[in-house]
Amino acid sequence: MGDYETILLDRSGRVGLITLNRPKALNALNSAVMREVIDAVAGLDADPGIGAIVVTGSEKAFAAGADIKEMADLGFADVHGRETFSGWDALTRARTPIIAAVAGYALGGGCELAMMCDMIIAADTAKFGQPEITLGVIPGMGGSQRLTRAVGKAKAMDLCLTGRQMGADEAERAGLVARVVPAAELLDTAMAAAGTIAGMAKTTAIMAKDAVNAAFETTLAEGVKTERRIFYSTFATDDQTEGMAAFIAKRKPEFNKS
Ligand code: CAA
Repeated sequence: MGDYETILLDRSGRVGLITLNRPKALNALNSAVMREVIDAVAGLDADPGIGAIVVTGSEKAFAAGADIKEMADLGFADVHGRETFSGWDALTRARTPIIAAVAGYALGGGCELAMMCDMIIAADTAKFGQPEITLGVIPGMGGSQRLTRAVGKAKAMDLCLTGRQMGADEAERAGLVARVVPAAELLDTAMAAAGTIAGMAKTTAIMAKDAVNAAFETTLAEGVKTERRIFYSTFATDDQTEGMAAFIAKRKPEFNKS
């Protein structure tokens, strides 16, 4: 699938798997990686045969950040004019649920890419951080905003101001990570979770993702209203009829997958 230079694209059943593949640069996110990840996600998102996506890196690094060598010689007019990193926003518009499977370094843009996904499953080797300040810059792919929403001001300030790395257990305690597993089980666990999601009704999975994401965009009262409107909409789907009938009949539901 796909003809990419910096990523590998595979599928297993209804799950798409994107593997960042610049091992010599610890998967540093240059513009080619951005272009290819966004293209691959768009293709998977448009495919009715895909119900969930996993994004992963290597054992040593999910991604060690934006590519410093690509940025080093840029000036204000360059990054401002090119709207550097804004292309990543397309990832957050994907409707299909996306899991980040993180082992090793997830620093700077690597941490930010993981946070753009819908949930993070981490190996016990994972290390998260926003070390941009050590380079004389600040996070530029949403880190100061998504990390703060995920872990609160105290830890986000700590990470953004000191540049220190946070291990997998601390990240799980802080609420950044959904699950921590032994490194050897990371991909199987993430693929199994993605397979479970892909086995649900696709429309309902998209609705659930939209409802949770609304919590990041609005007030509690508006969010609860949004949830209720989406909940009511589920009753317009065959999947609600099927899901509840199957429960009552004590059989497995046959959901619409596309
Ligand atoms: N950009 C470009 N190249 C990188 C890179 C990055 N972010 N991270 C690592 N590399 C390269 C190194 O330059 C090195 O290449 P060479 O062999 O050609 O010298 C190779 O990957 C291996 O790296 P190290 O030798 O440094 O490996 P290590 O095991 O000693 O250290 C590390 C690992 C602690 C992750 C270290 O590589 C590191 O600190 N990397 C940079 C982390 C960082 O600052 N990330 C933030 C980037 S800015 C950003 O992301 C902005 C944003 O908000 C979007």
